[in-house]
Amino acid sequence: MSKVIFLQSDRRQTLANAAPAEPLAPGGQPLLDTRRRPLRDLRISVTDRCNFRCTYCMPREVFDSSYQFMPHSALLSFEEIARVAGVAVQLGVQKIRLTGGEPLLRKNIEALVDMLAQLRTPDGLPVDLTLTTNGTLLEKKARALKQAGLTRVTVSLDALDEPLFERMSDSQVSVKTVLRGIDEAARVGLAPVKVNMVVRKGMNDQQIVPMARHFRHSGHILRFIEFMDVGTTNGWNLDEVLTGAQILQRLAAEFPLEPVASGYQGEVARRWRYADQAGEIGLITSVSQPFCGSCTRARLSPEGKLFLCLFATQGHDLRALMRSGGTDVHIAAALAGIWSGRDDQYSELRGQETAGREKIEMSYIGG
Ligand code: GTP
Ligand code: 5AD
Ligand code: SF4
Ligand code: SF4
Repeated sequence: MSKVIFLQSDRRQTLANAAPAEPLAPGGQPLLDTRRRPLRDLRISVTDRCNFRCTYCMPREVFDSSYQFMPHSALLSFEEIARVAGVAVQLGVQKIRLTGGEPLLRKNIEALVDMLAQLRTPDGLPVDLTLTTNGTLLEKKARALKQAGLTRVTVSLDALDEPLFERMSDSQVSVKTVLRGIDEAARVGLAPVKVNMVVRKGMNDQQIVPMARHFRHSGHILRFIEFMDVGTTNGWNLDEVLTGAQILQRLAAEFPLEPVASGYQGEVARRWRYADQAGEIGLITSVSQPFCGSCTRARLSPEGKLFLCLFATQGHDLRALMRSGGTDVHIAAALAGIWSGRDDQYSELRGQETAGREKIEMSYIGG
């Protein structure tokens, strides 16, 4: 029976061979947090570095040449990442997203993809293995990533207008490079490609309609993201948030849209499709319509801390546990204990109660 899996110590023998019908905590109960949310989604940040300096994420004034990024020795090795991921999959994780910083900057990332692609859920299924990238290295890497077992990709792109894109990403990279990366990803089968556009009022909101027009009929899914108060360095202000409803209004004035049902329980994006069959878009409304009630996400930082919320102040150190000889059973017990004590709902409390809170940076923990 599945309940014995945590009584044995060899992970490859036990976790991989066990076949519980549902994710179980070491005590034998389904793994739920204090708000009865299951652990389904693990987001793994593989580096805190990025070749962009998006103003809303890594403003250059803070992330300048004197900024201390993590030394390589502090990062989890691919083996350590795969170990945590393997245990998490046995506890219910069905989707793994690699993020950063910029994950394609991590050397030989394909090797990690290959290791994660071998994982199987207790039902024997592979995980949905995806990656969020800024697209600069995607054209070059897409094929190898696909061959290693990546399922699909999400690419961040905030504008088509070159000068504006340069200003927002604070880089010299051309929009064309990112667009070539997106097309190559789709060509090699990393599809559907999702394109994330963070909308910052007064900055790039004039690009909403041009972006929609560009991606209609492409097969790629454009998602508009409300600008969020992640981290403490981006100078977030509610006045700069254009809500999902306002974005939708602008789109609907140009293109008839109809709602689409959620693809899965806890889906972050609200889906819409063009009535003329030109494809689908999404709205991610973490500020105006939070979705904490169905949040099933945990996040692993580059140096092995587990964070349970994008707005968390503290993580749980799994690297120390692994490097002091902890077995997979210990890791499973730690993960289960951490998850079952979780009560995060930051976006639903946003306001007075959360103002001034010290938070982790998006570039450190990913989206
Ligand atoms: P798929 O549906 O699997 O493609 O992924 P996803 O909808 O989770 O998309 P993605 O990981 O690209 O997330 C899109 C954006 O939504 C992120 O960049 C964040 O801005 C936001 N987001 C994702 N997860 C959370 C979350 O747990 N809390 C909050 N507040 N925002 C989130
Ligand atoms: N608000 C909303 N989305 C953000 N992202 C980064 N910072 C923010 C923010 N402040 C998005 C990026 C990318 C993903 C990793 O997170 O655009 O799509
Ligand atoms: Fe880099 Fe993405 Fe942050 Fe931009 S949003 S600085 S691309 S990690
Ligand atoms: Fe989940 Fe925290 Fe985001 Fe709410 S704010 S959806 S709890 S990660």
